[in-house]
Amino acid sequence: MKAVILAAGKATRLRPVTLTMPKALVPVANKTLIGYAFDVLKAAGFNEIGIVVNELDSPIPQTLGDGSALGIHLQYIVQTEQKGLAHAISLCHDFVGDEPFCVFLGDNIFQDKMTPLFTNFLSSGAESAIALGEVPDPSRFGIAELNPDGSIAKVVEKPKEPKSNLAISGVYLFRSSIFDAISRITPSWRNELEITDAIQQLVTDGHRVDTYKIKGWWVDAGKPDTIVLANQLVLEELPYTPANEDKTQVIGNSTVTHRVILGKNSQVIDSIIRGPVIIGENVIIRNSYVGPYTALGDNVTIENSEIEASIVMKNCTIKNIQGRIDSSLLADNAQLESASHMPATHRFVLAENSYVQL
Ligand code: G1P
Repeated sequence: MKAVILAAGKATRLRPVTLTMPKALVPVANKTLIGYAFDVLKAAGFNEIGIVVNELDSPIPQTLGDGSALGIHLQYIVQTEQKGLAHAISLCHDFVGDEPFCVFLGDNIFQDKMTPLFTNFLSSGAESAIALGEVPDPSRFGIAELNPDGSIAKVVEKPKEPKSNLAISGVYLFRSSIFDAISRITPSWRNELEITDAIQQLVTDGHRVDTYKIKGWWVDAGKPDTIVLANQLVLEELPYTPANEDKTQVIGNSTVTHRVILGKNSQVIDSIIRGPVIIGENVIIRNSYVGPYTALGDNVTIENSEIEASIVMKNCTIKNIQGRIDSSLLADNAQLESASHMPATHRFVLAENSYVQL
């Protein structure tokens, strides 16, 4: 089976970060968001993966190439106009041929590797199988109502009056019948061809669509607060590592707890790092506090500041900030410096090359 990852969306909900960086490449615990999709797909045995992008000359193909560095074969499918998930899938027909295939939404991140979903499908006789997760806010998602045997009775995209809290969570298995179903649906109120409507078409045609209830957490990481949440959930799973006592890295009056990953050439000087924390290479932390659930990219400098539960991407500088920075997202090259005292928590979403002086 082949898999396709849909990553052509405009990512407007994650602006300004995504003005220059596609959502798929936003780092979560210092690994790209799409890297977590690869983990699930590789664990399920997929190594031929198509990625739907909005142009070939763009950061995703430039960064991931043919996938050989990741031990997978990657191909790119271009969706120039954003006409919906079902439209994106229809463009993958040549890539997947007439074989069953998996669709993975590139902005979703899961704790569960969902092995039974993948292993049961081929022999199941079902025309499709989808992963479902319980959500507190069902009107934001595609929502499923189930038959007593757990198969789909009905699916509705973003229902105003949801009949269940079981959301379609971004991992779908299809047979080639989905292409015919897509050809028979019409655009939704948001002027998109919805994959949810194509699944409903399968059900209306009398086909069985199986479901798998995901275990553990799942985040649709399409917004700044959900990216930050995903970062916290992934860091929560950092395995135990003892406190780093290397005197070339942990210097002066510093305390670095267990579960802190400190990259090559990074230094902690007169500072406290309280894990779980991941720190890239060539990072300098001086006279500062870096608290739990923080990810710092390469070449970051933090001086005289406190930060926790945040993502700081590569080449950022944070200096002399009064009050703790919390639950924030700083894109590449952001500079944050304080000119005066302010005993309040700060909260930022900054684009690449941003500069803030407080
Ligand atoms: C899309 C799907 C929706 C699904 C959601 C999962 O929504 O249309 O059915 O529940 O992804 O993240 P969108 O992100 O386009 O609002």
